[in-house]
Amino acid sequence: MSASGTDDGFVVFDKVQKSYDGETLVVKDLNLSVGKGEFLTMLGPSGSGKTTCLMMLAGFETATNGEILLDGKPINSVPPHKRGIGMVFQNYALFPHMTVGENLGFPLEVRGMGKSDRETKIKRALDMVQMGDFINRRPAQLSGGQQQRIALARALVFEPELVLMDEPLGALDKQLREHMQFEITRLAHDLGITTVYVTHDQTEALTMSDNVAVFDDGRIQQLDPPDVLYEAPKNSFVAQFIGENNTLDGVVKEIKGEHCVVQLDGGELIDAKPVNVSNVGERTRVSIRPERVEANKSRLAEDAHTIKAKVLEFIYMGDVFRTRLKVAGNENFIMKTRNAPDQVRHKPGDMIEIGWMPTDCRALDFG
Ligand SMILES: Nc1ncnc2c1ncn2[C@@H]1O[C@H](COP(=O)(O)OP(=O)(O)OP(=O)(O)O)[C@@H](O)[C@H]1O
Ligand SMILES: [Mg+2]
Repeated sequence: MSASGTDDGFVVFDKVQKSYDGETLVVKDLNLSVGKGEFLTMLGPSGSGKTTCLMMLAGFETATNGEILLDGKPINSVPPHKRGIGMVFQNYALFPHMTVGENLGFPLEVRGMGKSDRETKIKRALDMVQMGDFINRRPAQLSGGQQQRIALARALVFEPELVLMDEPLGALDKQLREHMQFEITRLAHDLGITTVYVTHDQTEALTMSDNVAVFDDGRIQQLDPPDVLYEAPKNSFVAQFIGENNTLDGVVKEIKGEHCVVQLDGGELIDAKPVNVSNVGERTRVSIRPERVEANKSRLAEDAHTIKAKVLEFIYMGDVFRTRLKVAGNENFIMKTRNAPDQVRHKPGDMIEIGWMPTDCRALDFG
């Protein structure tokens, strides 16, 4: 619980805009509330304003308009050493003249912690990043990934209330990266640390976060828990950016509540859920996940529309099959099926019928 006694809004961005040159806004209209103890990830393409947002939150950049609040107080009114923020930057700057141990001891020392407590905390933080043997090295004597791990340990060693991390695992190999993903989330949850995490790795975002804010063009395109983001993208950008996605273009023919009919450009009619379309006659791009495409009739609703597809390629991946289809002119339509005993292995050239639940097929903006 925060000092103000509320569970939400530990970090608040209120109508924040940022321009570096006084002309173009790199952050256009940011409204965001991060609850106490929440793990929030900012995910978005390069240049979408993620680091800029962290820098403003850390107090190294000022917002051009709007306000950022930390625990109910405007960030500017809190002196940096009282903000209790731990940080890992994209370029993980360590103090070059200090050893690993001294780098980690520094944030504890400035907080007035005694020597034996410091040693315990330093050891624990180094063990977490598997760097216990490197306590006497200097940063220049470490690899990039090792430096990154030390930067991570230094940000967490004083158990801050808020941690900001900007691509903290970018320099690590897959195995170490997955280990650290697990360690960071475990530690954050165990200690009740509020975390704002930046990455452009969507798997990392989905697996680590309570909520993910998808950035593009200086705005949050969608803010939701991982499962909602993946299963219910609100617009074409989010549907394309998160996970694998099939698209079919067409025109809305009919809308009735939660159901609409789309006439594809090839003339076929399909059922869909109207998500980001509102009028009959509107161009739409419908979006459907490969694992929600069904060729097995027994798994489809009786009244489901089906559509003809030509098999172009069958890829055996062990646990799953990836079948590339030509559907309504789209030659990159992917169907992903689990390798179950009753699952058919299609051959190139086969003509099949596929379908889906209309709720899994989302009519979105034309992009
Ligand atoms: N100090 C600066 N002065 C001027 N422009 C800047 C500055 N820092 C960033 N920008 C610009 O602001 C925009 C957003 O940059 P930012 O670093 O926030 O993106 P990002 O989402 O973190 O990207 P990446 O994933 O590549 O790290 C970019 O167009 C960038 O060129
Ligand atoms: Mg960045």
